Amino acid sequence: MGFWASKVLLSAVELGVFGVLDNGPLDLRALRSRTRLHDRSAHDFFDALVALGLLQRDDAGRYSNTAEADLYLNPARPGYIGGIIEMFNARLYGFWGSLTEALRTGAPQNEAKQGGDLFANLSTDPVRLEAFLHAMTGQALPVAHALAQAFPWHEVNTVIDIGTAQGCLPVQLALAHPHLTGGGFDLPAAGPIFSRFVASHALADRLQFFPGDFLVGELPRADVLVMGLILHDWDLPTKRMLLRKAYAALEKGGSLIVYEFLIDDDRRVHVPGLLMSLNMLIETRGGFDYTGADCIGWMNEAGFSDTRVVPLAGPHSAVIATK
Ligand SMILES: C[S@@+](CC[C@H](N)C(=O)[O-])C[C@H]1O[C@@H](n2cnc3c(N)ncnc32)[C@H](O)[C@@H]1O
Repeated sequence: MGFWASKVLLSAVELGVFGVLDNGPLDLRALRSRTRLHDRSAHDFFDALVALGLLQRDDAGRYSNTAEADLYLNPARPGYIGGIIEMFNARLYGFWGSLTEALRTGAPQNEAKQGGDLFANLSTDPVRLEAFLHAMTGQALPVAHALAQAFPWHEVNTVIDIGTAQGCLPVQLALAHPHLTGGGFDLPAAGPIFSRFVASHALADRLQFFPGDFLVGELPRADVLVMGLILHDWDLPTKRMLLRKAYAALEKGGSLIVYEFLIDDDRRVHVPGLLMSLNMLIETRGGFDYTGADCIGWMNEAGFSDTRVVPLAGPHSAVIATK
């Protein structure tokens, strides 16, 4: 019944419950009216959110956000990660209803079900593309904060994030380390979305957009290249090809940082990594998640050395390698 609790969270974000409570506690009547819920549903819905630890209710019956909900789920806060939850609600919740079909057929169950690939499909629709890239910021923000501390950035000058989406990672690295320059590489359709996001953080003089298709062309050059949730989208030959391209684009001594929901090497305990791999079954034609040992093996084949796994935030870990 885990999906019951999941959908309560997804709907709460969709209905804007945590944003409505930004201005302080509200009683049942006021919260129901502000979120436009039916009289029959509101009491149970809000109290379910209390029981799930997402809202609290005081002795006077007034609801407010818990500290965690306020930090991560209130759109008025800089740490808001609700974009990814909006995307789960609008896309993945429905697609996961076809998990059995995906398990039987091995075929994607998303927009690519009728053919093509997810990213090509999204690139044709600016509104859906922006929602998807904004969603990526929701999942990348905590990992970007962790990565800003987990690498010796003072030793390097330039960083380019490959498959950067809105540019969450380079923005957070540039905010934390004022000497860094570089930017993000992505399909050309992402360019205006990246540029708006970077400009909104007043970083346009330090971060630029590098348009390209990593399946076809070379990667741009920098001291450090990052691939966050990129390799898991592709089959093994493509993973290896992307690692070879990263190796070719780096100078000797340069670093590649790959981050994913890395599965534990014994493939027994890291539930998010294994479920993310099933999510790749639903979302892509050949993608799958992998262990740190798998990644280190492919990196070493590509020529990298000094490879190491570094835990980041939540389910994410990085594999860092040197050319
Ligand atoms: C799963 S998202 C990961 C976004 C971000 N790195 C993160 O960690 O949140 C994959 C990204 O790769 C980009 N991408 C997909 N295919 C690409 C290609 N052929 N060339 C360049 N970028 C591509 C997508 O547009 C998207 O921004």
